[in-house]
Amino acid sequence: MTENHETIDALSHENRRFPPSADFSLSAHVSDGGLHDEAAADLEAFWARQASELISWQQPWSKVLEWDLPYAKWFVDGKLNVAENCLDRHVKAGFGDKVAIYWEGEPGDTRTITYAELLAEVEQFSNVLKNLGVTKGDRVNIYLPMVPEAAVAMLACARIGAPHSVVFGGFSSQSLIDRINDAEAKVLITADGGYRRGEVFPLKPAADEAVAQTPSIEHVVVVERGGNEVDMVEGRDHWYHDLMAAADASCPPEAMDSEDLLFLLYTSGTTGKPKGIMHTTGGYLTHVAYTHRNVFDLHRDRDVYWCTADVGWITGHSYIVYGPLANGATQVMYEGVPNHPGNDRFWEIVEKYKVTIFYTAPTAIRTFMKWGADEPAKHDLSSLRLLGTVGEPINPEAWMWYHEHIGGGRCPIVDTWWQTETGGIMISPLPGYTTTKPGSATFALPGVDIAVVDDGGNEVDGGGGYLTLTRPWPGMLRGIWGDPQRFVETYWSRFDGSYFAGDGARLDDDGYLWLLGRVDDVMNVSGHRISTTEVESALVSHPSVAEAAVVGANDPTTGQAIFAYVTLRGGHDVDVATLRDHVAAEIGAIAKPKAIFFTPDLPKTRSGKIMRRLLRDVAEGRNLGDTTTLADASVVDELQRRASEAPSED
Ligand code: WTA
Repeated sequence: MTENHETIDALSHENRRFPPSADFSLSAHVSDGGLHDEAAADLEAFWARQASELISWQQPWSKVLEWDLPYAKWFVDGKLNVAENCLDRHVKAGFGDKVAIYWEGEPGDTRTITYAELLAEVEQFSNVLKNLGVTKGDRVNIYLPMVPEAAVAMLACARIGAPHSVVFGGFSSQSLIDRINDAEAKVLITADGGYRRGEVFPLKPAADEAVAQTPSIEHVVVVERGGNEVDMVEGRDHWYHDLMAAADASCPPEAMDSEDLLFLLYTSGTTGKPKGIMHTTGGYLTHVAYTHRNVFDLHRDRDVYWCTADVGWITGHSYIVYGPLANGATQVMYEGVPNHPGNDRFWEIVEKYKVTIFYTAPTAIRTFMKWGADEPAKHDLSSLRLLGTVGEPINPEAWMWYHEHIGGGRCPIVDTWWQTETGGIMISPLPGYTTTKPGSATFALPGVDIAVVDDGGNEVDGGGGYLTLTRPWPGMLRGIWGDPQRFVETYWSRFDGSYFAGDGARLDDDGYLWLLGRVDDVMNVSGHRISTTEVESALVSHPSVAEAAVVGANDPTTGQAIFAYVTLRGGHDVDVATLRDHVAAEIGAIAKPKAIFFTPDLPKTRSGKIMRRLLRDVAEGRNLGDTTTLADASVVDELQRRASEAPSED
C-alpha cells in the first residue's frame, strides 16, 4: 500500500433510513438511550448490573474488572456454573415444561425438548463423562452434526468444568487431528453420521482417522444419528445411548471460578496453524446473555428464536447454546441445508414453528435472492418480528431484499458485528431504539468502546480507517491456547493499548459505522484505497446481480486493478459494460472493475465467507494455494477455466 492515503477511501452513499416502528419500540427491552448513558457514565458498574441481573452466582465477585493490558479478568473471585444458569435455575423457577429446543432433522423427523428434559439429559451425560475419567480442567472434543446432543455435550462439559473444543462437522480429519492435538483432548464425542442435502455424511470414519493420530484421546463417544455402518473399537469406542443407560441421573453443577476456561474454539487465519481462542466463564456468559436479550429483544414468554448457524462456529456457541439458554428462550435448531427438499425449507420451518426472531448470514440471504422471492412467498412468514445478520458486511441491496421479502417490510434488522475473539456481539442496532441504514451495523453497543483510527492510530471522526476496541469487555478472548506470544502479536501490537480486530470500517456523517471487511481486503487502485465490500455492494445493487466478489490483482499501471466475480439472479442476463458503468455510477469511475467474470458460484469457506485469497490467485494467474478450507472445490476449477478465456476489459 502507498503511504499517501492515511485511511480507506469511503465512496458509497446510502440514504435510506428505517426507524423502529412505534409498535415495536413500545414493548422492546430497549427503546431509548438510557443504556448508552449508563455505560458511558460507569462501564464497570454497567457490566456489574448486567452480571447480577442476568446471571445467577454461587459466590459473588470481589472485583468487577482487573485489567492488566492485554489481560482482563472479569468478576474476580465470582463462582458460578454455566449449565446451572442455562438449565437448573429455569426449571427451579417453574419453567421446566417450557420448550427449550424444537429440533428439526433434515429428513423431517422432529424432537421437542423442554428445559426439564434438557437438564435431565445434561446431568446424565455429565455422569457419562465423569465415568470415562473426565475431571475438571480436562479438554473434551466435540465433532457432531446439528443434533441436540451437540448442545447436551457442551452443557455437560460446562457442568463438570471440562472445557470443550467443538470442531465443525464439515471439517476434515486433518483439521480434527490438529485441533485435538493442540488441545490435548481426552475424550472425543462424535456421531456415526448426519444428514446433509438428503444424504448421510459419515463422521465416524473421519473421527477414526483422526484418533489414530491423537494420542491424548482415551475414549470416543458415538451418537447414533445417520444409521450408517461404523467400526467400533472395543474398549475405546462407546455408543452414547449405551453409556447414558448406565449413568446416574443426578449430577450437581461444579462451582467454577469466573475466570475458569469454558471453551476453546479454533479459528483458522489465512496463514499459519489454527488459533485456539480461549473463552472463560462469568464474563462470557454475561456478555452473551446481555446481547442476546437486548440485540434480539428476546421476550421468553412469547418469542420463538432461530439462529441458522452451526454449533461448530462461535455464532452457534454464543447464540444457539449459551445466550439463548441463559435467557430461557425457546428456539428452533435445524440439522440440514436450506435447499432440501426444496429451496423454501427455511421458510417452511419459520411457518411451522411460528418463528419470531430469525438470525442468519448475508451469504445465505444472497443465495435466497438468487433463488428468487417466490420461495419465501409460498409461506406465511407473518410470525417474524425481528431479523438479524452476522458474519460479513451485508450489501444494502441484500438488506433491502431481506427487509422486504422475509421481513414483510415490518421487521427491524440487526446487522451484528463481532468475532470468535470478541465472544459476543459488539456493534449492532438496538432494534427498539436505533434508526437503521441498510448495510450499516450502526453503533457500538452500550458497554463496548471502539475507535476507528488511521495508520498512526489517531482516531478519525469521519471516513474510513481501522476498527479498534479501546476498552476491555466481558466476553473478550483471554488468550490463544498454548501461545501467549501470538495473542499479543496478533491482536495487541498494531495499535498501542487497543485491540485491533483486523477489520476496516468507515464512519459516515451521522456517526454510523460501515464495516468494510478485513483490511487485507482493501485494494489500492491508483493510490486510492477502495474496500472490496463497497464495490461488491455496488454490483449487488444492480437488479440482475445476486452476489459479487471483488479482489485487487496486481497491475503495472494502477498498482492494483479491480477484478469482479459475479453471480446473476435466476433468469437474469446483463453484459459486462453495463455492470462496469453501473459501478461507476454508484461509486465513481475509480471503482470500475477492470474485468468482470460471470460464475454460477463463488468459492466460500464452510462458514460462508468468500475466499478472496483464492480469487486473487485466479486473477493473477497463480497456482492456487491451500484449498482445503473450501466448501466446494469444483467452483475454483470453473473460475480458472473462465479466467483463462478472454479478459473482459473494454
Ligand atoms: C466479519 C463471526 C461485517 C468480520 C461472528 C469479522 C462482519 C469476522 C460482521 C469474524 C458484520 C462478522 N459486518 N463483517 N455484521 N460480522 N464479520 O470469527 O470481518 O467467524 O472480523 O465470527 O467476520 O468472523 P468469525
